[in-house]
Amino acid sequence: MMIIWIILIILFVPFGLIVLIGAPFVPSKTKNIQKILDGVKIRKGSLLLDLGSGDGRVLAEFARRGYKVVGYELNPILALVSKLRLRKYPLTNVHSSDYWRADVSKADVIFVFSATPFMARLYDKLKNELKPGAMVISYGFSFEGIKIDRKVSVANIYQF
Ligand SMILES: C[S@@+](CC[C@H](N)C(=O)[O-])C[C@H]1O[C@@H](n2cnc3c(N)ncnc32)[C@H](O)[C@@H]1O
Repeated sequence: MMIIWIILIILFVPFGLIVLIGAPFVPSKTKNIQKILDGVKIRKGSLLLDLGSGDGRVLAEFARRGYKVVGYELNPILALVSKLRLRKYPLTNVHSSDYWRADVSKADVIFVFSATPFMARLYDKLKNELKPGAMVISYGFSFEGIKIDRKVSVANIYQF
């Protein structure tokens, strides 16, 4: 019985408490990720960051197409799953850390699947830190009051 409680607590801390500081883990649909990637033009050799990279499925789809990818994921269990998923792709990295502290200045593309309460803060971070011309792919959510450049599948695309 004790062991079940320990397992439940270990799972609750990273998966449950995340809602206090960021979006909980809800994975993107692989079909949608593929539609988005087919619909946006990304230069060869581009660096993509997934802010809150979950189980690494978005990173894997980008890596499969030859892009350099870096994920930031606060939940260490998900970060570990991503690392295992990405082990066959050399140009990849996953940081088990807070994306609010991530250096995004070298990114060509940001992918983010966040939630409404975090979008304004996220916009400010990206506006201040991204290089001009960087693309932001926001899965499912939009930045309030900011013009969406394009919609592809369920994603809103912004050119910064
Ligand atoms: C909606 S899920 C999206 C996962 C993945 N990007 C996808 O599209 O499948 C959001 C993820 O962000 C992570 N997350 C939330 N806040 C975070 C933060 N401040 N730093 C790093 N990861 C965070 C959560 O643990 C969760 O895995």
